[in-house]
Amino acid sequence: MKKIIAGNWKMNGSAASLRTMLDAIAPVQTENTIIICPSFTMLNTTVPANVKLGAQDISEYESGSYTGDVSAKMVADMGAKFVIVGHSDRRKNHGETNETVAAKAATALAHGLTPLICVGETREQKESGQTMTVIEELVRKSIPTKPSAPIIIAYEPLWAISTTGIGLTPTHDDIRAVHGHIAKILGDMGLDGTVILFGGSVNGNTAAEIMAIEHVDGVLVGAKSLEPNDFIPIIKAV
Ligand code: PGA
Repeated sequence: MKKIIAGNWKMNGSAASLRTMLDAIAPVQTENTIIICPSFTMLNTTVPANVKLGAQDISEYESGSYTGDVSAKMVADMGAKFVIVGHSDRRKNHGETNETVAAKAATALAHGLTPLICVGETREQKESGQTMTVIEELVRKSIPTKPSAPIIIAYEPLWAISTTGIGLTPTHDDIRAVHGHIAKILGDMGLDGTVILFGGSVNGNTAAEIMAIEHVDGVLVGAKSLEPNDFIPIIKAV
């Protein structure tokens, strides 16, 4: 089955390293959808036919007096087709609430961008057995009412993220259970068939098995999306 493999470059890389990555991916034969999300400053670049660009955030507003912010229209104008919204870095460092995230996702859709809406529980929430309730609330509240086009959900347990968590990936049973739960909630919301990605310390050795789990439609990769030697094996894993 076709999978989505998205790279979240966070605040890393350069125009030159993005070029190196795109040139390295260009000859790779794959049915999968490959998305790279570099910083805003690198979006305006030519991509090979097998790669799509995504932004890492957008403003929830259309335009106006929001110094330093970047609108959905601007990133679409630079060639982005996707945008990550509600990444845990944004929720934590910029105080983004579910409501902000839903507003950003709605703005993305209005400009023809597909939002990758991130949800995930903290280590404390997991250890106190709250994962399913926390995820349900995040999913229900971070999705705009009646989205006008498909959205993507990315389940990223905060504790599993390589740089800000403890870098441990959940067991396959845990991933299967949470993805199944998300699929059911999406079904209840009338959003059957919504793509659900997994993120958190995914690498070339773990990607194939993770993507074989039911309701895992692809991966969102951070650290291992920055170098072709790390990222290309993930693209080729399925
Ligand atoms: P990681 O990051 O793959 O480095 O754990 C994933 C993410 O934060 O999107």
